[in-house]
Amino acid sequence: MTFPQGFVWGGATSAYQIEGAAYEDGRGPSIWDVFCRKPGAVLQGESGDRACDHYHRYKEDVALMKSLGLEAYRFSIAWPRVLPRGRGATNQAGLDFYDRLTDEVLRSGITPYVTLYHWDYPLRLHEEGGWLTHESSDWFADYAAVVVDRLSDRVRHWFTFNEPQIFVGMGYQEGCHAPGDRLDFAMVLTIAHNVLLAHGKAVQTIRSCSKTAPRIGYAVAPHEVAVPASTSDFDIEAARQVFFAVTKKDCLNNTWWTDPVVFGRYPEEGVNLFAKAVPSIGSNDMSIICQPLDFLGLNVYFGRKYCAGRNDAPEAVPLEPGQAYTSYHWPVVPESLYWAPKFYWERYKLPVIISENGMAGSDVLSPDGGVHDPERIDFLKGYLRELMRACKDGIDVRGYFLWSILDNFEWAAGYSQRFGIVYVDYQTQKRIVKDSARWYKEVIASNGAVL
Ligand code: FCB
Repeated sequence: MTFPQGFVWGGATSAYQIEGAAYEDGRGPSIWDVFCRKPGAVLQGESGDRACDHYHRYKEDVALMKSLGLEAYRFSIAWPRVLPRGRGATNQAGLDFYDRLTDEVLRSGITPYVTLYHWDYPLRLHEEGGWLTHESSDWFADYAAVVVDRLSDRVRHWFTFNEPQIFVGMGYQEGCHAPGDRLDFAMVLTIAHNVLLAHGKAVQTIRSCSKTAPRIGYAVAPHEVAVPASTSDFDIEAARQVFFAVTKKDCLNNTWWTDPVVFGRYPEEGVNLFAKAVPSIGSNDMSIICQPLDFLGLNVYFGRKYCAGRNDAPEAVPLEPGQAYTSYHWPVVPESLYWAPKFYWERYKLPVIISENGMAGSDVLSPDGGVHDPERIDFLKGYLRELMRACKDGIDVRGYFLWSILDNFEWAAGYSQRFGIVYVDYQTQKRIVKDSARWYKEVIASNGAVL
């Protein structure tokens, strides 16, 4: 058994997590540069100042990707590297970097997938009111235009946003990600609305300015995938209900972020629950937000099992004693990679791309010079088998991007969580291919047959 023909095997990264060179070649500051300097915000006060130094080592990194047989590479553009103040004057050196990177990726036979926003918001715009201001969606569309103008002769695949529910929730409500705000819920929902508008306007911009026919998606985080505890229809419906429910006044739900984008409306359950906190919605807003998309990106890491309890009401199933966890303490639930695409596909009827999946491990450099990570191989094997099952059941999954190619700066957890299939020695910047990378190479080469 293999994955469908044409299935795309890739790897993903993001700018702030790997590039480093935070103060070089005219890059402007981002909210993460400032957040990392806030005492106690990031583990050990670490930052992405240097990270994997990918800005200087991108050739070596792309050569590594090529040697692993990667077919596609998802990377993000640092907005403040391209527009140091967020808007206005562009920074040629920054644009040149993404130009060179794109060329190197293409020269290696790899298809670039570009994410426009993976959380490194320009500090200057934040100081001007950021996502709370009405103009913020136009700022984003203007930024998109600059990138599209420069790269779209070679780049065809785009993601507008990465995990809006996470950067809005953690950044503006919980305060544990940049910019570290704890705003009231009405303001958080205003930010969410402006982000959704920015998504819609960016899609319009990409479609109208692109020099080649674009394929556009949006990457969301089905944070904790609701997985049915059994194959009974009751359990499946219980899990589906939880998966698409809005039950808390926070950002961690699926429909608030995807219904507007695909259906052009907020979910009723959310509108009722959020009540007065829902922002006023302009008469054209929903038609701007709801643009035709070519795919939905799903970042899938873990899930939780549900069954139908009394009166068929969903009940969370307690974790088994001895449940496996990654070093980030995320439970290992391989079925998440079956049910997330299935539920999304059935509700939204858009092709799915797994835009992120992977695990943090306590990887160490072994005395024999290798990095042996059998847990990661087992993790990926379990998850990918479930994804294969989804394809077999007719769910339209087009590709898989492993998070991540390199160990990198894991946001508030600093460098404590190694997600890479390539180990990075942060002192020497030496890259060491882990066992899981060699294994992934075989998965790609066999289109999943070795699973
Ligand atoms: C996702 C983020 C990505 C990375 C992984 C582990 O939520 O999109 O940047 O941090 O988690």
